[in-house]
Amino acid sequence: MEELKTQKNTALEAIEAAGSLDAVEALRVDALGKQGWISQLLKTLGKMTPEERQEKAPAIQQARAEVADAIAARKDALENAELDRRLATETLDLSLPAPDEARGTVHPVSQVMDELAEIFADLGFAVKTGPEVEDDWHNFTALNMDEHHPARAMHDTFYFPDRDKEDRAMLLRTHTSPVQIRTMVNEGAPVRIIAPGRVYRSDSDATHTPMFHQVEGLVIDRDIHLGHLKWTLETFLKAFFERDDIVLRLRPSYFPFTEPSVEVDVGFEIVKGRRVLGGSGDAPGHAWMELLGSGMVNRRVIEFAGLDPDEWQGFAFGVGVDRLAMLKYGMDDLRAFFDGDIRWLQHYGFSPYDQPTLSAGVGAPA
Ligand code: DAH
Repeated sequence: MEELKTQKNTALEAIEAAGSLDAVEALRVDALGKQGWISQLLKTLGKMTPEERQEKAPAIQQARAEVADAIAARKDALENAELDRRLATETLDLSLPAPDEARGTVHPVSQVMDELAEIFADLGFAVKTGPEVEDDWHNFTALNMDEHHPARAMHDTFYFPDRDKEDRAMLLRTHTSPVQIRTMVNEGAPVRIIAPGRVYRSDSDATHTPMFHQVEGLVIDRDIHLGHLKWTLETFLKAFFERDDIVLRLRPSYFPFTEPSVEVDVGFEIVKGRRVLGGSGDAPGHAWMELLGSGMVNRRVIEFAGLDPDEWQGFAFGVGVDRLAMLKYGMDDLRAFFDGDIRWLQHYGFSPYDQPTLSAGVGAPA
């Protein structure tokens, strides 16, 4: 027993004096490792008589506990000392350049949607969204396109096989116009909203993709007229293209949901092979480009949405967001928008930290 005590004290002293984590580890192996002296002693317990075991076991167990505690305490102390040393000696040079990181970009469509929200917010418009999986009542019927309306056929609609609980055909919305209906039904009048979002048509070439983006505009109040529509579109397009010389031409047209309907063209000039918006399309070297559809909301649409058309009237417009992005930022193939090619996105995308603001924007293409 005396021998055990001596051995234990020697070990505790050595642990206390150990100057490194490696030294502590060596002492741990020496005492508590598989071949360590305490482990060996513990093994002898099995061969002892019960009386002998009762006499010797507590001292051996205690020696093991004391040595294990001492090792843990010494390890702790050494680790803390190491940390203190590093805190005292190491410095961090904040002026060093950060390592290069692969950075994502903001997609031109997202960028343009942000710009639209910003411009229309300044004009007092709220941003609304609606479901992309629509029913045919909101997408067609309430917009004055009943079941047999020829305009329905022009939309190349993706239909779902099943109808909804109210026995309405389900489809991927073909335009953002159903958000007009949802907003009037849910919130009544007056209304001043834009509704940007995805729309779907079964169509694909350089200027058509099965999924694309539109923004809808709707203003309903007691005495809104075509003059308000013209001013709003002019103000919007001048702000969006960041040019004061944007000239619009309003042409009579037809949409089931507006009466009268107006097609809006914008004047442009070809400069170095690119369309640059601005100036009258009738000026020398200029031409007109069809840009968007609009009109005074059809009485029947206002009725379908549950409002009294003798009390409320207003205008609506719809325009392709991808097309706006292509015109402003100079891309020419719509399909590239949705290919997910990182090189294209690095080239045409926008830095999330350094977006061009409208007030300090891109200006005319060089
Ligand atoms: N919904 C039309 C389309 O998909 C665009 C449109 C035209 C929307 C005239 C309107 C509008 O609100 O008044 O092509």
